[in-house]
Amino acid sequence: MQSNPATSGFLLGVASRAGGAHGPFADTIIHSMKTYRIALIPGDGIGKEVVPAAVKVLEAAAVGFGFDFEPFEWGCEYCLRAGRMMPADGLEQLRPFDAVLLGAIGHPSVPDHVSLRDLLLRIRFGFDLYVNLRPVEILPGLEPPLKGKTADDIRMLFVRENTEGEYCGVGGRFKPGTPDEVAVQQSVFTRKGVERVIRYAFERARARPRKRLASATKSNAMQYTMVLWDEVLRTAAHDYPDVSVANYHVDALAARMITHPESLDVVVASNLFADILTDLGAALQGSLGLAASANLNPLERLGPPVFEPVHGSAPDIEGRGIANPIAAIWTSALMMEHLGEPRAAERIMQSLKAVTGERKIRTPDLGGKNTTQEFAAAVIEKVQDSHAPESPAR
Ligand code: NAD
Ligand code: IPM
Ligand code: MN
Repeated sequence: MQSNPATSGFLLGVASRAGGAHGPFADTIIHSMKTYRIALIPGDGIGKEVVPAAVKVLEAAAVGFGFDFEPFEWGCEYCLRAGRMMPADGLEQLRPFDAVLLGAIGHPSVPDHVSLRDLLLRIRFGFDLYVNLRPVEILPGLEPPLKGKTADDIRMLFVRENTEGEYCGVGGRFKPGTPDEVAVQQSVFTRKGVERVIRYAFERARARPRKRLASATKSNAMQYTMVLWDEVLRTAAHDYPDVSVANYHVDALAARMITHPESLDVVVASNLFADILTDLGAALQGSLGLAASANLNPLERLGPPVFEPVHGSAPDIEGRGIANPIAAIWTSALMMEHLGEPRAAERIMQSLKAVTGERKIRTPDLGGKNTTQEFAAAVIEKVQDSHAPESPAR
């Protein structure tokens, strides 16, 4: 994964010498520590519960570097006050950050097509974050809900096209409210957009032990967009002879995820297809509260990458403190890996796995009775234990 430490700030610990008033360079720099500037957009509903939990885990996992977290209170409540989901210059405000950690957007007080398009989709499109990476794996101690399948059978990585396709927003309504009303929602697939995401998926497949790529198509019914998709897949495949490729119609692929999940490794799909397949993936993991994701542009930087759980704002459980923070914590590990801190990512994942592996603390979506905070506290304890031998002072 491409890391982007270039924009990281440096926190300079400066100690003044006694009587050392000899201009700005008379101070002794005794310590320089990398600091990642992270924009926090908790958003709505349980986003405001799982992001603080993930931030505490991140803070515990930071060894040898620091964080400068800046909260942005954008979302539906902000919209009710300000008349928009984020300020007009919101993208400019986010641009200098190293990464964005986002909870979830959406509340019944604002229509979903307004709230999501004006905030989350605006950021994904505005920064051209064309890859949405979504791992589907079973954590230790959690039984896969599929009968007869083990954790080893479910190890997929979804590469979702994230900036065009069915989500491009081109269309309109004609004669609204009349019996003759027409609604048109175009999908737009560009050769450039399809090729870059398919090539990225090939690269990810190549780097994995099984080296398999499955693509989701629907070219039996969609003779323009999906036929282009298939052609680009076939052409790109020539450059990856070491990767075995299968092209499935998306309906059959959905069934395959249930009947033969072990046959799937990396899966590449269009924006809408992968949106649907990855909620199915989360169900295969055991809960929507488990699925993590990263929005990236591996080719160029128009803005920071955005890390967010797959799940939404879950209005049915918001405010009760019972949301599962695993997806947000896992997402934070993806963020650390991407920022070039693999050891912190590893510490977070090992601690998360240690807690799930003990099978003691679980939120209600996994059949437990624990709260978001209790789960996060257990992970933080493991993180702290993990660096105790190296740095007993912590
Ligand atoms: P949802 O993901 O919010 O909830 C679906 C179901 O999963 C609910 O029963 C919910 O309680 C459960 N669930 C989700 N996350 C959970 C967690 N961490 N712990 C425990 N249970 C969890 O999907 P929805 O109900 O279709 O959407 C609700 C709102 O969220 C809508 O406004 C929708 O547009 C929005 N949404 C936003 C995002 C995002 O911001 N990335 C993603 C999906 C949906
Ligand atoms: C997701 C969400 C979003 C999407 C919605 C809320 C716009 O479902 O991130 O999976 O479809 O991309
Ligand atoms: Mn979704």
